[in-house]
Amino acid sequence: MRKPIIAGNWKMNNTASEGAELVKALKPLVKDAKCEVVVCVPAIDIPAVKKAIHGSKIRLGAQNVHFAEKGAYTGEISANMLKEYGVQYVIIGHSERRAYFGETDETVNKRTLAALAAGLTPIVCIGESLEEREGGLTEKVLDNQIALDFQGIEDFSKIVIAYEPIWAIGTGRTATDEQANETIGYIRKRMKKVYAGKNVGRMRIQYGGSMNAKNCKGLMSQPEIDGGLIGGASLKPADFAAIVNFDK
Ligand code: PGA
Repeated sequence: MRKPIIAGNWKMNNTASEGAELVKALKPLVKDAKCEVVVCVPAIDIPAVKKAIHGSKIRLGAQNVHFAEKGAYTGEISANMLKEYGVQYVIIGHSERRAYFGETDETVNKRTLAALAAGLTPIVCIGESLEEREGGLTEKVLDNQIALDFQGIEDFSKIVIAYEPIWAIGTGRTATDEQANETIGYIRKRMKKVYAGKNVGRMRIQYGGSMNAKNCKGLMSQPEIDGGLIGGASLKPADFAAIVNFDK
């Protein structure tokens, strides 16, 4: 019922020409993919990557979006600017943006609403730190993000959540299949309660954090996990393709 979605998050890697090369290598490897395949690229790579994905199943995503339609926001990019280039997805509230660039639950919420208004699919990242997990605070932290980040959304089938335990991002330390499944199950249950009647059952929830060619099968076989947000492994075509083709 929920189509799996595997999205690469290139972060600040690949110039436009490197990005185009990567995608050209990726195209034949994912041509039979049954899941949705997305690459979320640095904004300046968007035109080159858009050209390079032409004729393939790969869809284009960005890594951030501003919440205003336009105006005096030096250095920012609006949802309509992304839209005009054929961008369909946008990562919002990644833990790196929360940690290094002052992103808050309030701005995550505003960006998410702006993306939806422009017809983009937000991939909203939530998750707990190691300290919070070890202190038994995971559910409390998630409850708080659930309450604040998604206010005002009427149709949750139009958004994707990436559950990314911060301690698993870029660390090589993955959540176990069961841990990831249990926490994503918790998020879904909680959201069904808080946002009852708003299509939460059709919303996809990805796992993110050191997902790779080796551990993807185990994670993707869990019933609650609808996909992955992939950092490091998305920079290598063969590795990313192995994740996309997890069902083969
Ligand atoms: P990682 O990053 O796969 O390199 O851990 C995931 C992410 O930050 O989205």
